[in-house]
Amino acid sequence: MYFDRNEHKEVIALLGAGSMGTAIIRRFAAGRKILLGDISEKNLERVSREFTYSGYDVETMIVNALEKDSVRAFAQKAASLGPVKYFIDTAGASPNQAKPEHIVALDMIGTGYAVDAFGEVMAEGGAGLIISSQAGYMYAIPYETEQEILRTPTEELMNLPIVKDTAMQNVGYAYMIAKRVNHLQAMKAAAATWKARRARINSMSPGVIVTPLAYDEFAAAGESYQRMIDASAAMRTGSSDEIAEAAAFLLGDHAGFVNGIDLLIDGGTIAAVRTGEYQLGR
Ligand SMILES: NC(=O)c1ccc[n+]([C@@H]2O[C@H](COP(=O)([O-])OP(=O)(O)OC[C@H]3O[C@@H](n4cnc5c(N)ncnc54)[C@H](O)[C@@H]3O)[C@@H](O)[C@H]2O)c1
Repeated sequence: MYFDRNEHKEVIALLGAGSMGTAIIRRFAAGRKILLGDISEKNLERVSREFTYSGYDVETMIVNALEKDSVRAFAQKAASLGPVKYFIDTAGASPNQAKPEHIVALDMIGTGYAVDAFGEVMAEGGAGLIISSQAGYMYAIPYETEQEILRTPTEELMNLPIVKDTAMQNVGYAYMIAKRVNHLQAMKAAAATWKARRARINSMSPGVIVTPLAYDEFAAAGESYQRMIDASAAMRTGSSDEIAEAAAFLLGDHAGFVNGIDLLIDGGTIAAVRTGEYQLGR
């Protein structure tokens, strides 16, 4: 970049250059080398133009989160740019955008590929963040099954009955299970592969955040979605900027002792669900 002579920047890589991801970058990436990965070339062009004209140092790469080799190449590209201090995964689809097979492949297996690949390149003292969902709190996976998930390599998750039988029943189950697995993926990496590199990783579970993805959900789920929002203590939707604020905390030095956890940011929806103030599906 013409104005910027610092050639020794920390690298921040974002997989999924959508609404939440770009809000996180804008909040946290000043002075760092940004690598944006997305399946949509159009998205990448638009977002990188916006960031470049706002003074950020950006590179882009087309990545398909469904393909292990593509995700690994993305991680390698990040490492070639400098010390990879931050990785954020927001590549995902919501229930009304896809079939169960796609939700599981993208939101669960794709996330696993990314956590595995970045677990090989993170710099010491680095931090990662997976964007999961409040849906990860809506379906209780039995303890023994969660232990089995934790022991299972990413490629083999599809073979587990909780995935190939339960999650495939409908998009709701697929999404809730995939997003709970995201919490376990962060926990597992924090305790093993990322630990070995002295890097932290957490997940974050947003409630309803108004983005194009949420508009698709509103269009399909309508009244039941509104009832869920009304039942939350906040009685409103959230914004990508609120997610970015919390992400900056989790990625930053103030959270240096926070590792392997999920942070639920939902305005109180899950509190309403757990206490019976709101019943799912009504
Ligand atoms: N918006 C909400 O209300 C909400 C709530 C909870 C969780 N989430 C989760 O947050 C994450 C980000 O959501 P968002 O609202 O910013 O959505 P978004 O649609 O703005 O961003 C998702 C991005 O992922 C990219 N993507 C899709 N498939 C891909 C693939 N195969 N490879 C690479 N990139 C791919 C899309 O092109 C898009 O840029 C998702 O995982 C979503 O499930 C969203």
